[in-house]
Amino acid sequence: MSKKILVTGGLGFIGSHTVVALQEKGYEVVVIDNLSNSSLSVLGGITKITKSSPDFENIDLRDKVAVKKFFEKYSDIDAVIHFAASKAVGESVENPLLYYENNINTLVYLLQQLKEKDRAKFIFSSSCTVYGQADELPITESAPVKKAESPYGNTKQIGEEIIKDTCKVNDNLSAISLRYFNPIGAHPTANIGELPIGTPQNLIPFITQTAAGKRKQLSVFGDDYPTPDGTCIRDYIHVMDLARAHVIALERLLEEEQSSNYEVFNLGTGTGNSVLEVIKSFEKVSGEELPYKITDRREGDVVAAYADTSKANDVLKWKADFTLDDALASAWKWQQTLEEKKENEI
Ligand code: UD1
Repeated sequence: MSKKILVTGGLGFIGSHTVVALQEKGYEVVVIDNLSNSSLSVLGGITKITKSSPDFENIDLRDKVAVKKFFEKYSDIDAVIHFAASKAVGESVENPLLYYENNINTLVYLLQQLKEKDRAKFIFSSSCTVYGQADELPITESAPVKKAESPYGNTKQIGEEIIKDTCKVNDNLSAISLRYFNPIGAHPTANIGELPIGTPQNLIPFITQTAAGKRKQLSVFGDDYPTPDGTCIRDYIHVMDLARAHVIALERLLEEEQSSNYEVFNLGTGTGNSVLEVIKSFEKVSGEELPYKITDRREGDVVAAYADTSKANDVLKWKADFTLDDALASAWKWQQTLEEKKENEI
């Protein structure tokens, strides 16, 4: 019998690509999403790709009673992949309590339900933000967790601690935290992708919207960093590679291959690219010239972050297959599809 997987935030950017990867592997998927930063149309996109629709429950995980009721209804859930969370760094500084409620309360409610089960498997969306500006590059999982720069970053650190502490005293629970570097790109069919609401805060959606004529120009936040071209360096990973890594981590949990009941993995390509390199790569794959200007640094940005991926390579037997060019080409195709859809609506 196929395993049943709960994916919270399953209509979000990384969640939706993971739902596709799970369904393609024969898993039965139940999605919880409160549509706060996603849209029901994503279900249509998933169905187009996989020819089947996951079960969908519109639940706000801050509603503890609703979470309890969900697990009564779906008592046969085999594992949970928990994406649902708020993720805008700036907004978290403005409204910290929203972030602590959305990202911490919800995690506690889920774990409270899972620890009551005979066996429970849990995957957590963490972030390279837990490392802050690491002292050594590339960053290994044993690099120290630095004081968080924002409430958002803090919720990822605290989230990991909560899971670790809970696993320590609950042998029936096993969990993996996946620390993503910078997720970008879209499904190659362009049926699902990133759907930022309002002005994008992240680099790639800002680039694609600028190339599509929706934004006047891109601001490059600082060119006086101690890097070869002066702009910040990040490890941009294709969301398709990330989605596949979730399925592999899930299988490790389901097959009980873990060396301990709580593990952490970096998910990145292992390669760092500067903002100017990303712009060049985008211009190459899209054939569009991207208007940009250099502006002041953005507060809270680290100079450089890229992953040491040896642990994921060795233990999960996973490595990123797609290149930066592939990821940017897919993001551009997705943006163009969005533009066409809007034209059709008019
Ligand atoms: C941030 C968070 C990360 C989170 C991710 C997704 C930190 C340190 N990082 O990543 O944890 O998972 O958002 O929400 O908290 N840039 C520009 N112009 C723009 C936008 C970005 O030059 O208009 C530059 C930035 O300065 C940075 C790079 O592009 O060097 C990537 O920025 P962004 O996409 O926002 O991701 P991070 O800040 O790396």
